[in-house]
Amino acid sequence: MKVLVIGSGAREHAIVWKLSQSPKISKLFCAPGNAGIADLAECVDIKAEDIDGMLRFALENKIDLTVVGPEIALVKGVVDLFEQNGLRIFGPNKKAAQLEGSKIFAKDFMKKYKIPTARYKTYNNFEKAIAELKDFDLPMVIKADGLAAGKGVIIAQTRQEAVEAIFDIMGDMKFGEAGKTIVVEEFLQGKEVSVLAFVDGNMSIPMVSAQDYKRAQDGDKGLNTGGMGAVSPALHYSLEVEKLVNKNIIYNTIQALKAEGISYKGVLYFGLMLTKDGPKVLEFNVRFGDPETEVLLTRLQSDLLNIICSVVDGELNQADIKWSQEKAVCVVMASGGYPEQYEIGCEIMGIETAEAEAKIFHAGTKLIDNKLVTAGGRVLVISALGSDYEAARAKAYTAAEKLSFQDMHYRKDIGIN
Ligand code: AMP
Ligand code: GLY
Repeated sequence: MKVLVIGSGAREHAIVWKLSQSPKISKLFCAPGNAGIADLAECVDIKAEDIDGMLRFALENKIDLTVVGPEIALVKGVVDLFEQNGLRIFGPNKKAAQLEGSKIFAKDFMKKYKIPTARYKTYNNFEKAIAELKDFDLPMVIKADGLAAGKGVIIAQTRQEAVEAIFDIMGDMKFGEAGKTIVVEEFLQGKEVSVLAFVDGNMSIPMVSAQDYKRAQDGDKGLNTGGMGAVSPALHYSLEVEKLVNKNIIYNTIQALKAEGISYKGVLYFGLMLTKDGPKVLEFNVRFGDPETEVLLTRLQSDLLNIICSVVDGELNQADIKWSQEKAVCVVMASGGYPEQYEIGCEIMGIETAEAEAKIFHAGTKLIDNKLVTAGGRVLVISALGSDYEAARAKAYTAAEKLSFQDMHYRKDIGIN
């Protein structure tokens, strides 16, 4: 089977790595890929959002199956386009992808079907939004409706900050069209957990849980990032809470999708807050999470290709999905300054010695004149398994110490709390 993976981060490296273990794959392509992915797949220079370019490539190369990593391609309708052209593809269609593409769509959907989430209001007029801020306690959360690369969420500690956020998003269009409409919502307190599920249009099977460390610095300090590390299972996810999530959130969501006439196929990601009033949904993502995938796929013992095919064929009930009982920890090696300004093109040292200790997924890397150099804010993701969190942490951090590049930065507390 010829398989194409769309995307270029450590998530896609993990997907390609896992797929490369499947005996049914004769040829793997990744577009656009990165320097680490190039060891396992042929990288093709097409941007993830260039869905017409992807289609041309898939038709010309007779691709049997395409697996989509990033949300941008899904929200743009890559699945609809491929299916109209008779191609098999793993991911939700454009209508279903609105669960991530529009926060208002997701919130209204949850309200209609009584899926627990933060209380909210939506606005397309900033004067009305500002006038009604009094209806929310502090802190409060302001969100741009559309895709904003994880940056369109502002937690306002004062009313002044809330007003400024609204002006930034709706007045200055800081996130472009994504901010034409906004959501204002109640701030939820608790521990965050990511639960991803395979969904085949009819039923879902949740994966093991995961936890993402979003802030740049130890102790959850500093700016929000795309993720500085992850663990699986999540540290605070009891069996009791898991049962509540499966019933009140995941099962309800799948039933609600059916009631809306939305055929959802792919991975559905539930970003949850475990509040004192029970688990609530912070956000949906319509794809594998990053860096969650880097811990989840190291725990997956079954053939990922078989699972993906069972989703595409609507036969998830036949799938064999087994997970290692071990704990997984991944740590992101980032460029100094990330998520703000950072240098690229810095030579990466020690990768071979680090690889002897743990699995290394490339996020932003490039080969220039046979030298591996940094090419993004998140550069490498080290993922390790262990009989407990401490054992997994020890392996990941031993590998981290072998790596170096100019101004390399990583959190030292992944998997502690
Ligand atoms: P979102 O993209 O909606 O998941 O928001 C990004 C991050 O902002 C989440 O992972 C949370 O850490 C935080 N966040 C979003 N909504 C809320 C909320 N209602 N209460 C508290 N934190 C939130
Ligand atoms: N880890 C959060 C995300 O993938 O959006």
